[in-house]
Amino acid sequence: MCGIVGCKGNMDLRKYLINGLKDLDYRGYDSAGIAFILKEKINVYKFKGTVENLESKIPNHIDSDIGIGHTRWATHGVPNDTNAHPHLSFHQHFAIVHNGVIENYKDIKDELIQQGFEFKSETDSEAIVNLIEYYYLQNNDVLKSLFLIGQKLKGSFAIALLHESEPDKLYFYKQASPLLIGVSNDFNLLASDAAPMIKLTKKFIDLEDGQYGYLTSTNQFLFCNGRPIDIVYSNKEPELLVKDLNGYPHFMLKEIEEIDIVIKRIMNHYFYEDKFHFDSKLIEAINECDHVTFIACGTSYHASLIGARYFESLEKNTSVFIASEWAYYPKFLGNKTLYIMLSQSGETADSIRCMQMLSKLGAPILVVTNTKGSTMERNATYSLLLYAGLEVAVASTKAYSAMITTLALLCEACKNNIDVIDDLNNVCKSIRKIYFQKEQILQIARQIKNSPDVFFLGRGYDYEMSLEASLKLKEISYIHSEGVPGGELKHGPIALIDKNVPVIVFISDKIVALSMRGNIKEVESRGAKTFIISSRSLKHEGDAFVVDDTPIYLSPLLKSIFAFYLAYFVSLEKGLNVDKPRNLAKAVTVE
Ligand code: F6R
Repeated sequence: MCGIVGCKGNMDLRKYLINGLKDLDYRGYDSAGIAFILKEKINVYKFKGTVENLESKIPNHIDSDIGIGHTRWATHGVPNDTNAHPHLSFHQHFAIVHNGVIENYKDIKDELIQQGFEFKSETDSEAIVNLIEYYYLQNNDVLKSLFLIGQKLKGSFAIALLHESEPDKLYFYKQASPLLIGVSNDFNLLASDAAPMIKLTKKFIDLEDGQYGYLTSTNQFLFCNGRPIDIVYSNKEPELLVKDLNGYPHFMLKEIEEIDIVIKRIMNHYFYEDKFHFDSKLIEAINECDHVTFIACGTSYHASLIGARYFESLEKNTSVFIASEWAYYPKFLGNKTLYIMLSQSGETADSIRCMQMLSKLGAPILVVTNTKGSTMERNATYSLLLYAGLEVAVASTKAYSAMITTLALLCEACKNNIDVIDDLNNVCKSIRKIYFQKEQILQIARQIKNSPDVFFLGRGYDYEMSLEASLKLKEISYIHSEGVPGGELKHGPIALIDKNVPVIVFISDKIVALSMRGNIKEVESRGAKTFIISSRSLKHEGDAFVVDDTPIYLSPLLKSIFAFYLAYFVSLEKGLNVDKPRNLAKAVTVE
């Protein structure tokens, strides 16, 4: 989703804005632009297309020390030059970049049109910059105008704002969309996440909702509800936030092949000196709750399905909801419920909406996220970090594995079962073996790449992992696919099976192995080409890919490596954009 950068001070502005936008490009975008102030005039360059296209069209040297930049992921209005950000206000006193969605922008636009304002774009963002200008023309005070827009706008808005006659101040506002400030001695930065800033500073301000203010070259000024507030600084770990391909052709491949390291890193954080290290209050909350409710989206929802099984092993009742569903049809299952929300980004709007509903009720929420300082992490009752490092490919891989690992460790910590450490160490070894066998998965990818549909079958953990395998394939190869529980096949989906539909079958659990072999016969007798991915002790001759045996609760960590590679290779073979599939964004910061 949209990415924002901004800078003020003694630095190479062109380099920061352009490289910063490139660092944010993994979030997904369709147009890009920058604005800066030169001789009390705001200069804007913005175009549909890539940041590289923008780079080729802006001056080689920009003699300004204040600027903003934006990558736009279209929500209101098609991707074109006019709808691209930054947007100038009607009288051209202000330029804005915005991430979020303004729900009442039509009413505001109508009111401003009545006041004589004219609009150029179809965006909701132009309503913000014109509203600021409208207030400013009355009160001559940008800070007051920012305070007033906070009262008037409904929705989400992280903004950076230039005022042509104040080239010494970079203004900003954060409400329900991510925005961070990076602090240095003689310059200050802002961006939607830490990636653009981490090469320049380790010191950050994680803005809270409702906070606004301005940056000068050497200082930061923060306000909330019309009053100055004290600033809390935080440090971030550079090695976990740098966006670097490290010699790999794609981020997705790099991120798949980091999974063993990520699992080890998580173990090192939560288990050392022969002991688990989780917040004792969290363990107490788990021990005391009757029910655990997971709420998440996409891949994080799939990891939640696995997590729920872990909590069942603690004899908890569990339920798992998709955030955008729960937000409108919430279910409260008793007072002794612990809510667990998984989110790689910690900024997913659907999940944040649920969190806000729960927080109002004072419900305890554990957030498991890869993003320190994210909205979800900061607003959680308890939080666990994933330590997976920046995940750049839109298709989430290592974050899924990190979520499963963290939840496995947490639940085994509740049982004080340190065998999980040996189990995870063995899983890491087995994962590394799969890295060396990926050529076999490429061969399977070549056999399915032209199919219009692919089915994934499994039961139990394998079924839940099939859902993730299917999501991964569809999002980066654009092949329609479904994950189906083996037993459900004959209740409907088998009608779609014929010789053109490859069926990929996971067999990890002895107790369902026979039934799964039965399912294979059923689809093969309808002409389907099957690919069986089995665990070593359950393998049959002719199985397409065999992974090491592992305790069943960790089997998704192994089988998912196969699934991630498969999606990657199919996408690659089809010549598609592996890391940035069409229509998708990395952090889905609008509902
Ligand atoms: C799929 C994928 C998405 C995300 C979903 C939730 O590969 O990445 O389905 O899992 O948008 O995002 P987070 O985990 O950031 O809340």
